[in-house]
Amino acid sequence: MQSYTVSELLSQDIAFNEVEIKGWVRTFRANRFIALNDGSTINNIQCVVDFEKFDEDLLKRITTGAAIHIIGDLVESQGKGQSVEIQVKSLEILGDSDPDTYPIQPKKHSFEFLRENAHLRTRTNTFSAVMRLRSALSFAIHKYFNEHGFYYMHAPIITGSDAEGAGEMFKVTSLDHNNLPTNGNGKVDYSKDFFGKETNLTVSGQLEAETYAMSLGKVYTFGPTFRAENSNTSRHLAEFWMIEPEVAFMDLAGNMDLAEDFMKYVIKHILDNNSEDLEFLDRRQQDEDKRKPQAERNGMTLIDKLKFVTDNHFKRVSYTEAIDILRNCKPNKKKKFKYLINEWGTDLQSEHERFLVEKHFKCPVILFDYPANIKAFYMRLNEDGKTVRAMDILFPGIGEIVGGAQREERLEVLKEKMAAIDIPEEELWWYLDLRKFGTAVHSGFGLGFERLVMFVTGMNNIRDVIPYPRTPQNAEF
Ligand code: 4AD
Ligand code: MG
Repeated sequence: MQSYTVSELLSQDIAFNEVEIKGWVRTFRANRFIALNDGSTINNIQCVVDFEKFDEDLLKRITTGAAIHIIGDLVESQGKGQSVEIQVKSLEILGDSDPDTYPIQPKKHSFEFLRENAHLRTRTNTFSAVMRLRSALSFAIHKYFNEHGFYYMHAPIITGSDAEGAGEMFKVTSLDHNNLPTNGNGKVDYSKDFFGKETNLTVSGQLEAETYAMSLGKVYTFGPTFRAENSNTSRHLAEFWMIEPEVAFMDLAGNMDLAEDFMKYVIKHILDNNSEDLEFLDRRQQDEDKRKPQAERNGMTLIDKLKFVTDNHFKRVSYTEAIDILRNCKPNKKKKFKYLINEWGTDLQSEHERFLVEKHFKCPVILFDYPANIKAFYMRLNEDGKTVRAMDILFPGIGEIVGGAQREERLEVLKEKMAAIDIPEEELWWYLDLRKFGTAVHSGFGLGFERLVMFVTGMNNIRDVIPYPRTPQNAEF
């Protein structure tokens, strides 16, 4: 007799025979039908118990959430709704679950409630589907880069430079907070700290990835990044995962081509390989939509939205063109935007990004050539002296999903830009070295992994696509 997963048993490849299975009870109906799930698929296997053959006390312990071990015969199902089922011959309770206190009842729970029970929420259909898709997406990402000649680089998580400027940082220290060593002018003396200097959690692996691109050619990072911004939105986390490819001898146009090809590939991988979970989430979203007022409904089903990305060219638009469109659009003229667009040079908010994607172009958009002063110091200055070779990819429902650039490869220009915002050269001496020894055009981008998972699963809150979200005032689990 062999042990199987639910997924294997439902795959139709198993001979009708005696089988063994372990899992958690989802429901137990009519003292007869157990719906059993083990996480291997969104579907449950039906296990049929002949209650006359089992002890009453044992049957009472088959409750929602209990872990059980079953041996029985796999047979063609007598009932509707499933192809096969198990006729139970022996049943053992591995772990009881008190039905009065088990939080995950077989009914609809709010996402807020499930966030408070994040340790159990993957026992629901929605969260198990989301997290299986998260896993599949991360596999697809590694597969893409592996097939395209990239090396996976592990950028450090503790960093001694805080020059990226991407956001507020979390300090890393082993000093005793109640007894901080100070120097003459009353400031903390970090030379006494663990690393002998101030250190932080990284906000991006880009600068380190650049050093590897300038020797290994094509590299990517995929790791956790940390930002201590106090932005309590449905699209921001204090700890999130980022994918950052970086390529030598590639310009901004190549960067856009790479990003578009990569995004299409990973989404297509999910469409081709994860249809069960996707179809479940697609139905969920359609049900939810029916309950919303017309104006708030998603125009497209989840699966249509994914195909829309894989089948359409991403529209490439310069920042300057985008500002013209936004300045003259209805919501701006009628003062419907929270932040009105008046002049060239203002930063775009997510309401503007979403207008461009969802209302104006109606397709994914790549904005490029942004004003230098709203972008990071390392971006390549254009000949006009006021814009940089930056690019952001905007997706429907999400806004910015990717941010990237061609990097400034000219030593003197880079030094000037650093001086202008007071970044000491000593701090980034190694970054400047890349421009001294064999400098070359190079580019890369950063994809926010959770924003991709949101897009692919149709989940509206970023807290629901990472196992244990870290946000202001919240680090439970
Ligand atoms: O645009 P960002 O800040 O770019 C960088 O960090 C560059 N170093 C990337 C590069 O060129 N290698 O961040 C990149 C992406 C954003 O487009 C967004 O998808 C995501 O990271 N992101 C966040 N996701 C969740 N929570 C946050 N607080 C995020 N901040 C950025
Ligand atoms: Mg950005």
